[in-house]
Amino acid sequence: MNDLSALPADFLWGAATAAYQIEGAVDEDGRAPSIWDTFSHTPGKVAGGDTGDVACDHYHRWQEDLGLMKSLGLDTYRFSVAWPRIIPQGSGAVNQAGLAFYDRLVDALLEAGITPNATLYHWDLPQAQQDRGGWPERETAERFGEYAAVVGQALGDRVKDWATLNEPLCSAWIGHLEGTMAPGWTDLTAAVRASYHLHVGHGLAMQALRAAHGDLRIGIVNNLSPCLPATDREADIAAARRADGHTNRWWLDPIHGRGYPQDMLDLYGVELPVKDGDMESIAAPLDWLGLNYYFPQYITDDPTGQAPYAKMAYRPGVPRTAMDWEVDADGLESLLVRLAEEYGARKVFVTENGSAYRDVVGADGQVDDPERTRYLEDHLAACARAVKRGVPLAGYFAWSLLDNFEWAYGYDKRFGLVHVDYTTQKRTIKGSGRRYADIVAAHRRKARRAA
Ligand code: FCB
Repeated sequence: MNDLSALPADFLWGAATAAYQIEGAVDEDGRAPSIWDTFSHTPGKVAGGDTGDVACDHYHRWQEDLGLMKSLGLDTYRFSVAWPRIIPQGSGAVNQAGLAFYDRLVDALLEAGITPNATLYHWDLPQAQQDRGGWPERETAERFGEYAAVVGQALGDRVKDWATLNEPLCSAWIGHLEGTMAPGWTDLTAAVRASYHLHVGHGLAMQALRAAHGDLRIGIVNNLSPCLPATDREADIAAARRADGHTNRWWLDPIHGRGYPQDMLDLYGVELPVKDGDMESIAAPLDWLGLNYYFPQYITDDPTGQAPYAKMAYRPGVPRTAMDWEVDADGLESLLVRLAEEYGARKVFVTENGSAYRDVVGADGQVDDPERTRYLEDHLAACARAVKRGVPLAGYFAWSLLDNFEWAYGYDKRFGLVHVDYTTQKRTIKGSGRRYADIVAAHRRKARRAA
């Protein structure tokens, strides 16, 4: 068994989800379409033609799902609020029925002793706001700030932990440059502008949340990857540096008051639409940093590709998940240490970490997933090593509570601690989920003995 003894007694054990991936009920109670409704309904964009129309039907089954959280023994639950339920047209009228859903969820979580950790934006931009230009335009950042104020005022009396954005890298680079996520653009200028306005939105949302309630703890969730050269060739070393800028520094430097990395500004060659005060607001102090970690990237030079002219190479013999992502728990340890040492993080959560494997429901109805269990144990051990090295790691959220709509991969890729049968909506706690519950329970027993 891996040694988790370094994890602090008050370490928070959680699981994460996101609105569009689990809720379904896309046209109920006043919700309007988001860019992911549009994208998933566009032929050829999502594997199998899957959409989030029903997903895990969590909008109707949330009480059952809360029961699962209790069975796992979670301390905390990270979910996202769907902007298109709250301000369906992106700006203007607030939809009380949409707010009421999260209101009920939050009350029930608190009653169950589970601390809510809410993310304002997990990629579901109201389509109407996209039609007004989306993230490449400043207006979207301003509307996001207004939405944050509404949600903060409605829930901030009970929800104290907030993230503004989930993985702005994916919104900007995958959504606007690579084009394999909504809104599906392939335009470097738009992508760089989107990245900037996402950060402006983050700053405005922080201000709005702080104004709504003085005692909120606010963070941002970035997905980071160690970017290492695949060979010792000069060109690959330079490419790895560019990949690091694109994947990590672009997203960390400005929120830490260091501005955007000059090498990347030069590489993109796109002027940022900076207004007075923006950089200060983007760099306003955070209460915590969220790290989503899945895999490391070994990089080779790619001079004919797109910015940052670097591509990922697989290392021979390294195991990969069903996503084809390399399994490497040391990458999690090194990123956590980097956040503490290079960026001076004072509090960090692993806000997502997990793995997709081809699960099968056995004849006995059980889902035995030893590879996911191993992934979980190894990554928790990496967290413990990071804590030993001085990282102020406050908690871990497994991705994901449930199998769900895995974006462009549809329902084919399963990340859940709990299996979902999409025909019957039956939930089954997997072996990895039971193992997680045991780890949580053991940690809690130990903490109690020590107290
Ligand atoms: C992250 C996303 C999350 C999920 C996992 C597998 O990039 O934040 O929604 O799709 O990957």
